[in-house]
Amino acid sequence: MHILGIDVGGSGIKGAPVDIETGQLLAERIRIKTPKDGEPEPVAEVVNQIAQSFNWTGPIGIGFPAPIKSGVALMAANVSEKWIGTNADDLFTKVTGCDCTMINDADAAGLAEMTFGAGRGQPGTVILLTLGTGIGSAIFHRGHLLPNTEFGHMRMKGQDAEFRTSDAARQREDLSWEKYAKRLNKYLKIMEKLFWPDLFIIGGGISKESEKYLPLLTIATPVVPAQLLNEAGIVGAALGARQN
Ligand code: BGC
Repeated sequence: MHILGIDVGGSGIKGAPVDIETGQLLAERIRIKTPKDGEPEPVAEVVNQIAQSFNWTGPIGIGFPAPIKSGVALMAANVSEKWIGTNADDLFTKVTGCDCTMINDADAAGLAEMTFGAGRGQPGTVILLTLGTGIGSAIFHRGHLLPNTEFGHMRMKGQDAEFRTSDAARQREDLSWEKYAKRLNKYLKIMEKLFWPDLFIIGGGISKESEKYLPLLTIATPVVPAQLLNEAGIVGAALGARQN
């Protein structure tokens, strides 16, 4: 089955048709800048532009950086507040004329990694964390997703963990890899004590540089980089639409 996967991010909106049996992109992905302020209607227009570039009429899965229930965003940490309460499935479906399903972006990346990447065949508890502008999370047990976890908003030192431990925080504070690895290690240690996972998968842009910080971590749980890199969001968004 072929589904158009779209990954809505703070700076770019990316999409490509996906063969959900193999996880392969069926065409080169398209990336369009996220409209300023990232409000619902302009974002839906970009999603439509991407769908039209592929002459798409089939189902569309959309990954979005917020917890999502039945197509509605419940919180807006790094996106426009106008999403809260907007039924995005209905909006996207109206604008594109295609059947659209939205899921959390980290849940999407997790589905992709569990099906085609670093988590494939992992029977225990797996936590995927995407380290980017924020921290996204997805937790699986025996391959089943518990959706909409928001572990990036766990409080550490009186602040959301993502404020100190995301890749954006590393860049903003110009942290050395040693300093950053220390912070990440503290964060993972807390997660480890709360969930006792069998595996952590680190995704997001930073997974490309894993050799710079993974060897510096000292936690007991194995930590591996995501394998699908910047395709995970697109592939997982498509998988999310299949599961609906
Ligand atoms: C949002 C999450 C999202 C993560 C990564 C966080 O700020 O609350 O829903 O998965 O950023 O984009």
